[in-house]
Amino acid sequence: GHDFCSPVVFLFLKISFVLEEHFFCMSPHLTELADNINRNPVHPGTEVTVIDLYDSWASLEPMWKQVQGFKKAFDSIVQKAPDGVHLVCFSQGGLICRALLSMAPDHNVHTFVSLSSPLAGQYGDTEYLRKVFPDCTKKLVFHFCYNRVGQKVSICNYWNDPHHRPRYLQGNSFLAMLNGDRPHNDMKAWRENFLRIKKLVLIGGPDDGVITPWQSSHFGFYDSDENIVEMRNQETYKNDTFGLKMLDTRGDMSVCVHSGVKHIQWHSNYTVFSTCIEKWLT
Ligand SMILES: *[C@@H]1O[C@H](CO)[C@@H](O)[C@H](O)[C@H]1NC(C)=O
Ligand SMILES: *[C@@H]1O[C@H](CO)[C@@H](O)[C@H](O)[C@H]1NC(C)=O
Repeated sequence: GHDFCSPVVFLFLKISFVLEEHFFCMSPHLTELADNINRNPVHPGTEVTVIDLYDSWASLEPMWKQVQGFKKAFDSIVQKAPDGVHLVCFSQGGLICRALLSMAPDHNVHTFVSLSSPLAGQYGDTEYLRKVFPDCTKKLVFHFCYNRVGQKVSICNYWNDPHHRPRYLQGNSFLAMLNGDRPHNDMKAWRENFLRIKKLVLIGGPDDGVITPWQSSHFGFYDSDENIVEMRNQETYKNDTFGLKMLDTRGDMSVCVHSGVKHIQWHSNYTVFSTCIEKWLT
């Protein structure tokens, strides 16, 4: 059956996200995950394609623009893979992949692995934030982010300030739509498209250091007191606005938590690969 001949598509975003000294090039890491997949081929002849777009500062380009760019690359790969593909997406790339999947009515993605992505948004003072907004602390970022100019920067597209919910709902043009926080006409279609995947794999952990809160990698997020509300207690889950609850109910969600893994180590850590990813790439 088609389950046994899916090439692996590895969508990777060189994220601005991982700053500190790593702003430039993430290629070594990316190769490591590709190598891990090849080293233990669950199916001989598995093809791994790395889509490498919007490097370095370009990763700050607006999310919708990046989604369009990735869509072109993605479409040309899936055309050559009629039996379907798997998608592994890292960090900001996880949100781009979700947008891709939501907007592709006939996609043939089997497993979607989201590797340490800010799926429910980001709210935290990290190194990268200080580089992008040198004078801002997390409390002030919303002033910059929730308007038309701010929304031209990727991080603002998923900046989720729990203390300014109405501003987020009104001013965010990406995550608020993707998560159905702000209702829109395409919500039903996006949900159906997203639900074509056969497996959702969510990976993250407490020592990530970049994704804040780290639970965002599993759709958890802060409430207005900055307490964590886990995925199943989130309103978008309960309302099933984009299919999360359905995937969970179907038994098609796998949640993987690992301690001791920093943000830039997720893709090169063999333990993570062998315990969280490998079994879903069949
Ligand atoms: C969830 O459903 C309730 C009741 O229909 C509605 O008031 C609320 O706005 C919905 N929230 C989201 C995020 O869809
Ligand atoms: C790899 O993952 C394991 C298991 O979670 C963790 O204990 C270890 O610290 C990680 N190593 C690196 C270099 O990330």
